[in-house]
Amino acid sequence: MRKNAKEIKIIKSPAALQKFSKKMQAHGKSIGLVPTMGALHKGHASLIEMSAKNNDITIVSIFVNPTQFGANEDFAIYPRRLKADAKLCATAGANIIFAPEPQAMYPLPLQTFVHNPSLEHLYCGKYRPVHFAGVLSVVAKLFNISLPNKAYFGEKDFQQLHLIKKMVQDLNFPIKIIGAKTIREKSGLAISSRNEYMSPKEREAASSIYAGMITAKKCCKGRSTCLLPTELKNIIQKKIQQAGGKIQYIEIVNKNDLMPAKTTKNAVILLACYFGKTRLIDHLEL
Ligand code: PAJ
Repeated sequence: MRKNAKEIKIIKSPAALQKFSKKMQAHGKSIGLVPTMGALHKGHASLIEMSAKNNDITIVSIFVNPTQFGANEDFAIYPRRLKADAKLCATAGANIIFAPEPQAMYPLPLQTFVHNPSLEHLYCGKYRPVHFAGVLSVVAKLFNISLPNKAYFGEKDFQQLHLIKKMVQDLNFPIKIIGAKTIREKSGLAISSRNEYMSPKEREAASSIYAGMITAKKCCKGRSTCLLPTELKNIIQKKIQQAGGKIQYIEIVNKNDLMPAKTTKNAVILLACYFGKTRLIDHLEL
């Protein structure tokens, strides 16, 4: 992190940001975009630092996007704290925060959505049916507003990252998508804005997610023949359930196309589970 963080500029209007980005482009400046929903933490900071290192201008968007939340999800209570976020952005080296009001992003209800019918209803999408169309559509809007050369996303949301890469490829966005490693707490728990919903006890128990995945991975490595995906799932499930977690899904998928894996070669574990009322997602490459 930079020691002497400068004041950071907050832009709220999509038209104003687009104008700024066009001007930067005309001056030959490279733009990095880090899309977020705020309540920023070390995971977000790692993306901002990466962008600041590799681009002339780093824009962080902070927008709790209503279209990616289902009716019974946490849109209303999702943490919003622009002042603290601005500090973190400045320290991590960002130049601009784009923090639009919902009215500015959606002056009228959206009629045009980006869909991926092959993948948007698998895994997380099975339980969050509107989620990925909401994500892809807002990310497409953010790309058209910010006009970045590069955009940074966490592997933490593995399915999201895959869908965004596919959108960029399918629709010829002139943007390079950079994926970044998941930042974890000491316990192994992936850092997430939603971790603060949990009690200290639940948070401690939730470290079983990473522990379970690591145990499964180790079991794979120590053998000449790979374990079957179902055997791996059982190991992880047992560990999480013993800690009091409730599994939503555990899948072993091919990391290149997210299709169910027959073996553990080139595969990644994807999972979602609950500790108390908090839904957590995680992943680990095998
Ligand atoms: P949000 O959950 O705020 O995450 C913003 C970015 O930070 C995502 O790319 C996410 O994968 C990354 N991230 C979150 N936790 C991380 C961690 N522990 N380590 C590394 N990266 C991490 O994802 C969204 O917002 C939204 O869906 C968005 C793409 C902004 C569209 O609204």
